[in-house]
Amino acid sequence: MHIDFTGKVAAVTGTSGIGLDAGLHLARLGARVFLAGIDAELNRAAAEMAAGEGLAVTVQHVDVADEASVRAWSAEIAGETGHLHALVNAAAIQFYGSIEDTTPEMWDRTIAVNLRSCYLTSHCLYPLMKAANGASIVHISSVQGHASQNRVAAYAATKGAVHALTRAMAVDCAADGIRVNSISPGSVRTPLLEFSARELATDGKSVDEMFAEFAASHPVGRIGMPADTSAMIAYLCSDSAGFVTGADMLVDGGLTSQLGV
Ligand SMILES: NC(=O)c1ccc[n+]([C@@H]2O[C@H](COP(=O)([O-])OP(=O)(O)OC[C@H]3O[C@@H](n4cnc5c(N)ncnc54)[C@H](O)[C@@H]3O)[C@@H](O)[C@H]2O)c1
Repeated sequence: MHIDFTGKVAAVTGTSGIGLDAGLHLARLGARVFLAGIDAELNRAAAEMAAGEGLAVTVQHVDVADEASVRAWSAEIAGETGHLHALVNAAAIQFYGSIEDTTPEMWDRTIAVNLRSCYLTSHCLYPLMKAANGASIVHISSVQGHASQNRVAAYAATKGAVHALTRAMAVDCAADGIRVNSISPGSVRTPLLEFSARELATDGKSVDEMFAEFAASHPVGRIGMPADTSAMIAYLCSDSAGFVTGADMLVDGGLTSQLGV
């Protein structure tokens, strides 16, 4: 499939892992990309990577949970382009905790960063997407919106809610020529997965040993790479997906298809 985003504008949240790779991928396909992240060091590294390849990528410090910050990002994009063809919401946080040991502060922050942000970026950037005469929003959800591990209540709640938000937005936004879909990745090699590997490690296992265990639980026999999610994101943002809206795409190597017994 040939995808060409020449002349298109994309906004992507998250400056590491899946968001970073998606932003660079869209830029390599010709898009003018605005990347947003909260971590100054990750932002700097992302900007260096993009500049090293000569890509049209601007990295901005944004807290996706903060309205003023998202509005400032939106104003930056509006000032430079006046329209937006693709919005990818990949920024998120995860911690491990049951309902008993998740504090109200942890709960609220997870909802704000993982779920409210999907509303907030879509809300603030909506006029730019309407002005584009055809746009695509992709929320990065998770297999944990479909099925759950132990001690991920807050994270799983946000990811399940993203699926419902995706359907509701797809219905509303269709009239404005805006398609809305989500992706539910399985284990993808990113800093977040390294955090999970360290948190879940037993018997002093290394991150690589944990990754090997994660790989074995995916029927395809490996964990995913950001390139796997970027390919799906590019497809969903392209005209080839013109009849696809309200969908959740599993990019999980068969993880959720397999019974655990
Ligand atoms: N890696 C996986 O195995 C996996 C699996 C399923 C779903 N996901 C989802 O994929 C998405 C990307 O995760 P990733 O694996 O690339 O992890 P990651 O930690 O590399 O990326 C998350 C990014 O979000 C940024 N961020 C966090 N809080 C922010 C805030 N308030 N404002 C702006 N940016 C903020 C972080 O700085 C980081 O760059 C997330 O939505 C995650 O839930 C990942």
